[in-house]
Amino acid sequence: MEEKKHLLEQLHEIQNNDDKHYLPKEKVVELAKKHGYDLAQVYGVETFYTMYSTKPRGKHIIRICENQSCHMANSKKLIRHMEAILNISVGETTEDGFFTLELSSCLGMCSVSPAMMIDEVPYGNLTEDRIDEILATYKEDK
Ligand code: FES
Repeated sequence: MEEKKHLLEQLHEIQNNDDKHYLPKEKVVELAKKHGYDLAQVYGVETFYTMYSTKPRGKHIIRICENQSCHMANSKKLIRHMEAILNISVGETTEDGFFTLELSSCLGMCSVSPAMMIDEVPYGNLTEDRIDEILATYKEDK
């Protein structure tokens, strides 16, 4: 268990230090070799947890919740709105590499459904207009 916890932390460190917020294969292989981990086991861990990505991602990662409370609060419509304004589908990154759009399980913000997080910042009570306003604040930082 201690080794597994250590592996999770190491994967976090690799991903957090990567400018494309993912786990480059060569770095994962290097980690496995260095610590004597079975590569298939490491791959199993990195693909099991949704917080890890094996694909390069954008500067900002949008995670919009699709679980029960958010679903009941019309998150599906908001997901479609987000795809339309970003011109990408869920799981993709905008052409300029600025946003990646992902789905999320419950973010623990059911009381303010529908909800999302952008990087580590939570947003609730979402509407299409509110999403437009929120994304505009990020684009100002471009
Ligand atoms: S179901 Fe969406 S935050 Fe809980």
